[in-house]
Amino acid sequence: MHNNLSIKIVNPVLGDERAIVTVLKKSWLDTYLNKEYDITIEDLLSKDYDSDKKLNQWRETILTNGSGEKYICVAKDDDEVVGFCMAEKGERVDRIKTIYVLPPYKKLGIGSRMLTECMNWLGKNKNIYLEVASYNEGAINFYKKHGFCVLNESLYYKELPSGKKMPLIGMQLF
Ligand SMILES: CC(C)(COP(=O)(O)OP(=O)(O)OC[C@H]1O[C@@H](n2cnc3c(N)ncnc32)[C@H](O)[C@@H]1OP(=O)(O)O)[C@@H](O)C(=O)NCCC(=O)NCCS
Repeated sequence: MHNNLSIKIVNPVLGDERAIVTVLKKSWLDTYLNKEYDITIEDLLSKDYDSDKKLNQWRETILTNGSGEKYICVAKDDDEVVGFCMAEKGERVDRIKTIYVLPPYKKLGIGSRMLTECMNWLGKNKNIYLEVASYNEGAINFYKKHGFCVLNESLYYKELPSGKKMPLIGMQLF
């Protein structure tokens, strides 16, 4: 049984990028399959998670963590990365860019701890905005519990490399 208290929320170190992309890929496959929008395993696998280019981008984010516009924290069970959350400061708005917790570690409070850490880093200077798949009810509820409200239901899309379109909604912290 996993226990929230034994999980540490820390800054990632170089080498964690492989585990981060593994969490990302597993979470995508666990979260985004959808019949209504015809999002299949093949569509989800068409995304580039772990090419050399992607891994280098993650290394860059880790090396410059918090000193520029991006901040990332990870959840570790001993030395294993089981979740991560990334925030980004922008010109007009600040954003929560991504948050993922490995399936067996969900609903233990880990996502809440990482989100709080990222929101503390962003501060209160600007509105905080995020995008979420319109059919991802679990995440939408999670964000609502943290004070976010749905801004626009007018659907826009993230196009996957396969060409399929994932519907998104915007949420903002109020
Ligand atoms: C969404 C996610 C990051 C939340 O992290 P978590 O560690 O599971 O969330 P927490 O345990 O901190 O939950 C906090 C609150 O959100 C609610 N919540 C979390 N997941 C939920 C779900 N699937 N359905 C309904 N409510 C949910 C919980 O009820 C909890 O409230 P409570 O403390 O009053 O019970 C995580 O479930 C996840 O990785 N999901 C899959 C990937 C994903 O959807 N990422 C978001 C992409 S935009």
